[in-house]
Amino acid sequence: MGFVAPAHSIRSGRLSGRPQKRLTDQRVSRRWSFLPSAPQRLRALADGNWRSSTTTTTTVPSRSSSAVKSAADVGTAALAWERLAFDFVPTSCYVKSVWRADTNSWSPVEEVHYGPHGEPVMPVHIASTALHYGQSVFEGLKAFACADRHVRLFRPRENAARLERSARRLNMPVVPPELFMEAVQRCVLRNCEYVPPYGAAGAGGSLYVRPLLFGSGGRIGLGPADEYTFLVLVTPVGNYYRGGLAPVTAYITTEYDRAAPRGVGHVKVAGNYAADLKPSMEAKARGYPINLYLDAREQRYVEEFGTSNFAGIRYLDERGDRYVYVTPWSESVLAGITNRTLMELTQLEGMAVEHRPVTLDELGHFDEVFATGTAVVITAVDQVVRGERVIPIGRTTGSGHVGPVAQRLYRQVRAIQTGEAPDPAHWTHLVI
Ligand SMILES: Cc1ncc(COP(=O)(O)O)c(C=O)c1O
Repeated sequence: MGFVAPAHSIRSGRLSGRPQKRLTDQRVSRRWSFLPSAPQRLRALADGNWRSSTTTTTTVPSRSSSAVKSAADVGTAALAWERLAFDFVPTSCYVKSVWRADTNSWSPVEEVHYGPHGEPVMPVHIASTALHYGQSVFEGLKAFACADRHVRLFRPRENAARLERSARRLNMPVVPPELFMEAVQRCVLRNCEYVPPYGAAGAGGSLYVRPLLFGSGGRIGLGPADEYTFLVLVTPVGNYYRGGLAPVTAYITTEYDRAAPRGVGHVKVAGNYAADLKPSMEAKARGYPINLYLDAREQRYVEEFGTSNFAGIRYLDERGDRYVYVTPWSESVLAGITNRTLMELTQLEGMAVEHRPVTLDELGHFDEVFATGTAVVITAVDQVVRGERVIPIGRTTGSGHVGPVAQRLYRQVRAIQTGEAPDPAHWTHLVI
């Protein structure tokens, strides 16, 4: 059964039924510049009549919790920020919206509080297509407390667009970008006590945002569900690099493939991560914290790490002041938002980006290699192991030294995320 692209519950000409044109952050920021100020939005949210844009008629129902949150609430949760890792820490609520085939629409975004004992659980149909057939896609992004006391999300529209691509691939209804933005902002706002404070007080942590879309309707025969749940949860996470950047040795997985050509590697579906568990655990058991996959067809091209993209740097001078950024193009690689950010930063610096197939033979010729993704921005890789062979990376391989390009790019991204540096491309999105 194919399904008709759903409309947002409160229909507007732009959102109903038709495939959405992708919005760039730049265009969005123009649209958002007409929005009410942050305090006005906060008040309106509490009143339940916040409009996500002046050009749509989307409204938020009045089921929001009573307390109005403001910048003064940011980072006030009683947590030891410096001890946070990348684990689930319950906050006060998550938000959700449900799509049903009979109405072909999404319900208004609602907040769901975790209950008196803080259990982050929800009832799910025992025959849910997510549980049985893996009809589940997700996203990951972060909100940061910034130097100017505001809280901002990093490139959320890109996550909305990727979730849409993932949903289409698994024959799921699309979450309209405005609904995505509304849910993400609302969840961050309502849990703003859990955004680690800016600077030393918050130990460089952030609020991780996890949007999830899954088939919640029950079905025994294989087919798409008649009900889907879109939820957004948040959880505070620590800064992985509190002790400074440190390189790792990566392990090339040769026993398993991550993604087949024309399969689902290019989208963020839950099953990709289930399939990576055994290979990544085996790599860890051998002492390698991250594993690198090659292309499934020939085992000749570098694709990506289990949960992050691959980038190689070629210096054009002695110190890496001038360089080329090389990252694999492949139909089965997930288009990472951090990788895209690094490519764009590289181009802004006037350097070249090569987005093309990268052969395994090239690996040892890079001056720097790193993994890149939302969780830690950059993980420098200074050696790669394939079977018995160790492939050294750069001149300082094995010395624990992180290359200058990785360091510079890491610092630039973090500075933009936390409002310490200008954001000329309008990547950040104001929440509070
Ligand atoms: C397989 C895979 N590749 C790449 C990435 C990096 O994507 P992003 O930078 O959007 O986090 C991720 C992380 O989500 C991932 O799971």
